[in-house]
Amino acid sequence: MESLHPDVKKILLSKDDIHDIVARMGAQITADYADKNPLIVAVLRGAVVFTADLMREIDCPLAIDFMAVSSYGEGFKSSGVVRIVKDLDTKIEGRNVLIVEDILDSGLTLSYLMRMLENRNPASVEVAAFLVKDVEGNTPAVTPRYVGAHVPDEFIVGYGLDFSERYRNLPYIGILKPEAYKK
Ligand code: PRP
Ligand code: MN
Ligand code: MG
Repeated sequence: MESLHPDVKKILLSKDDIHDIVARMGAQITADYADKNPLIVAVLRGAVVFTADLMREIDCPLAIDFMAVSSYGEGFKSSGVVRIVKDLDTKIEGRNVLIVEDILDSGLTLSYLMRMLENRNPASVEVAAFLVKDVEGNTPAVTPRYVGAHVPDEFIVGYGLDFSERYRNLPYIGILKPEAYKK
């Protein structure tokens, strides 16, 4: 077991858990996209760690590109506004696009992105989300084709996920202590 960061209350997914999940997702994607030369679209910044691992578990030709959007800003609550910070450099018309996200919370970021990319006439747009947050009374606007794990409605950090740009480098998925975001 990894050593616990003092601001982290509990580890939800260890390094080993993460490896198993990503390998399973990579195998599924390999089977589905073997002859499709997918364009993997990583959503900066949170998805970089997951994307770097996932692409190495996909055993077929692929390309990658990046988009940067922001919904949380510096705070800890979704502002309801999705801002495009960086667009793709790749033309996606006729391509099979696979959007890679670290976490689906309200689904606002992904539903906005999917609509935007579908307007460019790709052959397909699917989503691989490492985590889906289970929020009572809230059905996310998007159903990802590939899901790594479900997490409770708490403040989740690590493996790319931040609070105010911190904790992205933790090698596990953990729950942040309330003291760490209230101070
Ligand atoms: C976080 C997370 C997802 C999004 C999920 O990104 O990485 O992209 O929020 O929330 P939603 O489903 O409610 O839209 P954030 O906007 O914090 O930017 P970051 O990836 O740079 O941390
Ligand atoms: Mn993000
Ligand atoms: Mg964030």
